[in-house]
Amino acid sequence: MQSKKFSYENKELEVTWDLKRCIHAKECVHGLPDVFDPGKKPWIDPDKEPDSDKIVETIERCPTGALQYHFKNKSNPETPPSSNTIIIDENGPLYVHGNIVVQDNEGNELLRETRLAFCRCGKSSNKPLCDNSHIKAGFEADTSYNPERLELEPLENEGGELLIKLIENAPFVVEGNYEVIGENQSTKTCKRMSFCRCGASENKPFCDGTHRQIEFKTNE
Ligand code: SF4
Ligand code: FES
Repeated sequence: MQSKKFSYENKELEVTWDLKRCIHAKECVHGLPDVFDPGKKPWIDPDKEPDSDKIVETIERCPTGALQYHFKNKSNPETPPSSNTIIIDENGPLYVHGNIVVQDNEGNELLRETRLAFCRCGKSSNKPLCDNSHIKAGFEADTSYNPERLELEPLENEGGELLIKLIENAPFVVEGNYEVIGENQSTKTCKRMSFCRCGASENKPFCDGTHRQIEFKTNE
C-alpha cells in the first residue's frame, strides 16, 4: 500500500492529504471550495475558513480517507460512525465507512480507519485500496447484489469493529455488523462475507471463486 502525504495547517488544525488515495473531485471541493481549490497552489488552504469545525465536517465526508485532520491543541480525533456501511459504487470501488480494522493474511493490523475505498476491479496498483484504475480498465459493475446471501445472518447490534481480512490472491473477508448499500437496495447483516476484489466474479460484489481461474495476484 502506497502513501504520499502532504500537510496543510492553520492555527488550530493540521490537514493531511494522501495523493495515493485521492480518486475523485467531489465532497471536499463541493463542500468548501475556498479551502479545497484544485486550481490553486497549494490546493488546500485551511486559512480560507475561520471555523475549523467546518473544515473537519468536510474532511469527514471524504470517502477514501485521503483527507485526515488533527487539532494541534486539543484531542478531538475523528470518531467512527455508530454503524458500518459498505457502499457499492457503480463501475467503481467499495466505499467502507465505519470502525474499520484491516488485517493482512497473517493477521497483522495494516490500517485502523473510518473511511476507505477498496478496489473491486482487480487493477489498482495500490491494492487493496482504489487508485481509479477502474476507469482506464473500463470496469463495468452495477450496484445490485443478491440479498439472500446476507439475510441469513440478520443484524443483532449496530456498529462495533468491522474487521476486513485481506486474503492473498483472493477476496477480502468482512466480519462484524454492517450494511451493504446499492443504488436500489440495502441490507443490514452480520454475515461473515467474502467480497470480490479480482473484478471477475459473476456474483458481484461477492466472491464466487473466479479469482482462482484467472490467477488473480494481490501483490499488497
Ligand atoms: S473528497 Fe477525498 S477522495 Fe474526493 S477529491 Fe477530496 S480528497 Fe480526494
Ligand atoms: S476475488 Fe473475485 S471471484 Fe474471488
